[in-house]
Amino acid sequence: MLFLALVVIEWWGGDCEVVVGTGIEGCEWVSSEGIEGIGGISSAGMEMGGWMLDSCAIERTILLNLKQQWGNLPFIQSWNSFSSPCDWPEIRCTNGRATGIILRNKNITEKIPPSICDLENLAVIDLAYNCIPGEFPTALYNCSKLEYLDLSQNYFLGPISAVIDGISTLRYIDLDGNNFNNDIPPAIGWLPELQTLYLYQNEFNGTFPAEIDNLSNIEVLGMAYNDFVPMAIPPEFGKLKKLKFMWMSVTNLINEIP
Ligand SMILES: *[C@@H]1O[C@H](CO)[C@@H](O)[C@H](O)[C@H]1NC(C)=O
Ligand SMILES: *[C@@H]1O[C@H](CO)[C@@H](O)[C@H](O)[C@H]1NC(C)=O
Ligand SMILES: *[C@@H]1O[C@H](CO)[C@@H](O)[C@H](O)[C@H]1NC(C)=O
Ligand SMILES: *[C@@H]1O[C@H](CO)[C@@H](O)[C@H](O)[C@H]1NC(C)=O
Repeated sequence: MLFLALVVIEWWGGDCEVVVGTGIEGCEWVSSEGIEGIGGISSAGMEMGGWMLDSCAIERTILLNLKQQWGNLPFIQSWNSFSSPCDWPEIRCTNGRATGIILRNKNITEKIPPSICDLENLAVIDLAYNCIPGEFPTALYNCSKLEYLDLSQNYFLGPISAVIDGISTLRYIDLDGNNFNNDIPPAIGWLPELQTLYLYQNEFNGTFPAEIDNLSNIEVLGMAYNDFVPMAIPPEFGKLKKLKFMWMSVTNLINEIP
């Protein structure tokens, strides 16, 4: 019995491309009979009609739904129900799970569907150079492992007041080339891992918060081409010991860099 259980575990953990039994092509399926020995359903799986649908097939379903909600994206040809998402050029995988979605310049004109965060290992979202409209996509707060977010060069607008809430794992944020406005929110200070923050070429017309001094890991800060309220460079910037690159031209900041 123990031996059987081990075999099943290996099937689950196996590479997405291996086809098991009569499963749908590209992803593996395990008969639910096979799991009796270890008494239950794996957290990576979901029982469907007596079959164990593995995480590869679940993630493929999520991704194909995303593609559909985005209007089927003619520029994405390889996403189909016959292959593993790990074989699609726009998807990055680690251990057979989708960890990155890279759709730069794919003519996306619709909002980001909240179901994107159903990809529970997602660490990288790069949707730069599209035409995504609307306010900051708060649905992304549910992507609890997100480290890298690039939404640059889209049509986002409005404040980023709570942008950052709940995604404390973020290391890289690029929001340049949108129409975000108002202040940089104090919530910025809740991103202890943040190394890169690009906010240039937006319509920020407020101030930065003192909480910026909490960004102890920040290395790159790009704020140029905004319309901040004229102010001296905040003394808090002097505490950012790892800062290597700061791009502040045309931002209405005066005085010297602390
Ligand atoms: C981009 O998408 C829009 C709306 O879906 C469509 O009208 C347009 O033709 C697309 N552009 C290209 C280059 O495919
Ligand atoms: C996160 O997901 C939960 C469950 O799907 C949902 O109820 C909640 O509204 C989502 N949060 C955001 C900020 O979208
Ligand atoms: C600064 O970061 C710490 C640790 O992440 C956090 O507990 C604290 O609330 C942050 N302070 C501000 C003002 O954001
Ligand atoms: C910034 O711009 C927005 C949108 O035009 C406006 O509603 C807001 O009052 C402005 N804020 C400041 C501080 O000027």
